[in-house]
Amino acid sequence: MNWNGLRFTFEDVDAAPEISHYFTNFPSERDVGLAHHDGDEITAVAWLVFLPATNPGYGFVDAETPELCITTFDGHRGQGIGSALLTELISQARSRGLPGISLSVEDGNASRHLYERTGFEVVGRNQGSDTMYLALS
Ligand SMILES: CC(C)(COP(=O)(O)OP(=O)(O)OC[C@H]1O[C@@H](n2cnc3c(N)ncnc32)[C@H](O)[C@@H]1OP(=O)(O)O)[C@@H](O)C(=O)NCCC(=O)NCCS
Repeated sequence: MNWNGLRFTFEDVDAAPEISHYFTNFPSERDVGLAHHDGDEITAVAWLVFLPATNPGYGFVDAETPELCITTFDGHRGQGIGSALLTELISQARSRGLPGISLSVEDGNASRHLYERTGFEVVGRNQGSDTMYLALS
């Protein structure tokens, strides 16, 4: 997903279907999500959402491939939480037999390094973002 800097309020998200579709029907039957917590505090979330070709996400590849959304909340970044969460999510996706995972990363987003390190490769371009894909089989 695309979120360089703090650009969206909750109202913005609700008013923008191209953003809210990552949340509104989650979790559908096939979606997978994980949260990292420190005691009672949620420090990071990551989820895989299936969107249809008729309502694609920024990183849409095909209807059988879920798209990754991930964020570590302010104050917790750069401590390895995002890497650990992504590794576990990939492991769960693999154990469910999913063919792969896609994502969209905006030009200049530092998270690109995380995706490259994890094995995602650029497979497409959508406006100012690359679509990346990790094959799981
Ligand atoms: C991308 C993100 C989920 C990584 O989570 P994290 O818990 O900081 O991850 P890690 O500590 O495991 O670091 C993983 C990579 O994230 C990036 N990163 C680290 N600290 C960061 C920070 N403060 N801000 C942005 N990216 C950071 C680095 O590229 C790092 O890779 P490297 O260690 O190989 O250089 C987190 O920085 C974030 O939520 N960013 C804002 C939301 C976002 O851009 N999500 C991805 C949209 S495609």
